[in-house]
Amino acid sequence: MAETTKITAKKTAAKTGTAKITAKPAAKTTAKTAAKPAAAKPAKKVEVKPEDKKKILFVASEATPFIQTGGLAEVIGSLSCALAKTGKFDVRVVIPLYSDIKKEYRDKFTYIGNLYVHLAWRNQYCGVFSYEKDGVIFYFIDNEFYFKRPGCYGYFDDGERFAFFSRAVLEIMPFLNFYPEVMHCHDWQAALAAIYLKTNYCFRQEYQFIRSLFTIHNIEYQGQYSLDILSSLFDIYGKYQYLVEYNNSINLMKGAIEVSERFSTVSPKYADEIKDAYYAHGLDPIIRNNSFKLRGILNGIDDTGYNSELDSHLFANFTADDMSGKAVCKKELQKMLNLPEKPDTPIISMISRLVSHKGLDLVTNVIEEALQDDIQLVILGTGDYQYESFFRDLARRYPDKVSANIQFNGDLSRKIYSGSDIFLMPSKSEPCGLSQMIACRYATVPIVRETGGLYDSIKPLENGYTFANYNAHDMLYVIRKAVEDYKNKKEWAKIRYRAAISDFSWNKSAKEYEALYLEMLK
Ligand code: GLC
Repeated sequence: MAETTKITAKKTAAKTGTAKITAKPAAKTTAKTAAKPAAAKPAKKVEVKPEDKKKILFVASEATPFIQTGGLAEVIGSLSCALAKTGKFDVRVVIPLYSDIKKEYRDKFTYIGNLYVHLAWRNQYCGVFSYEKDGVIFYFIDNEFYFKRPGCYGYFDDGERFAFFSRAVLEIMPFLNFYPEVMHCHDWQAALAAIYLKTNYCFRQEYQFIRSLFTIHNIEYQGQYSLDILSSLFDIYGKYQYLVEYNNSINLMKGAIEVSERFSTVSPKYADEIKDAYYAHGLDPIIRNNSFKLRGILNGIDDTGYNSELDSHLFANFTADDMSGKAVCKKELQKMLNLPEKPDTPIISMISRLVSHKGLDLVTNVIEEALQDDIQLVILGTGDYQYESFFRDLARRYPDKVSANIQFNGDLSRKIYSGSDIFLMPSKSEPCGLSQMIACRYATVPIVRETGGLYDSIKPLENGYTFANYNAHDMLYVIRKAVEDYKNKKEWAKIRYRAAISDFSWNKSAKEYEALYLEMLK
């Protein structure tokens, strides 16, 4: 089979057959490196011989720029690249080949062969594609029965789909002749990769030195299933049942925490919070028991991708030192959203999934009080019907003050980040949160509740406003304080500047991951 065959619209559907590898892996990937945006700062590169680089494999269910439903994808895309840029790691990433992966990329993937993956009584086709971007090799696991569907999740057989994916991750290692030193699994969809490693594979010679790191991006989704399907779907039998069993069900996140050498989450504050029942969605005893191997590392963002100086989505570009373009962004945003063009009225924006843990019950409680002041409110996002209709109704009743955009829209989100003055993110819990950092990159001052990564990234009066208790009037008090400060042009320019120059690049956090990997390899 030709190793450079391009993926085409129609490809072999999942089928059963014998466990044979039908194509040899390419010695080196032949995929072309995609053009990369000009880097704002040159990456610090150390000279490490290719054979001395530490091999890291990210296992995840989504990654930018290929497919994204949330912050996880951005972290996978940007952290892998930041680690590769240090020159010390051979970083590879594996995700499923969903049919929704952007065609512009899909067309460039290189087919490197196929194998059959055995799981319980199933024996499933597994195609492997690769693509190299910014020094990171991405692998895509193809099986049309599991992944040729719209979107990424929400199917009745998600457990089976990600069990197949996780098993495939281990099976492709000999196929690629790539055995990582650290297999870094993200969220419940990749939990089984860590579990299979420690139950079925680590007894084989090539797998015995692979360490696993499990990162929790959101503890709310744990991969919980009935124990009835443990052997038939997950291929886990008697003696290993105790690893994944929790409260009379299967809990894949619990299993991954138990078996991994280390586990981490995406901010130091959240690492602390999940020891507490209020935040842990039932897993707090497990987190506490394993806290000796828990780390909290704050996410960074792709600061070249989010750059007000270069972003072509903006009505005008600007820098921290010259904000004249930001005034244009605001004026054009007001025009576009049919809000009165008032340069001195602060625009408060929210770009969020409209679900309760994002703090929307606080907002719905007091927003009408806030609207008595001279402010404009811009909402972007989709989610629960109750919040979608609340904001639609609010916009209908306050047409001169509220714009409700109940949609996903990447272009509009950047226009809102850059054209607003204040960004509201009052989450009840927030493992890290990227939007508050993105807002800062566009010189929009965040108001956040002090939880998780919001607490770790936004410091009161330094680069934003914060409130501690999950209380609607505490939030309103801080909104009013920010609106008042906004009127003092000199003071506002200072806080806005400090927000704009906050360093949310991966530089610091990539170093922390580096230290963690090295510690695991000792
Ligand atoms: C999840 C969390 C979010 C975090 C993101 C990336 O989406 O809810 O807080 O920023 O993962 O780690």
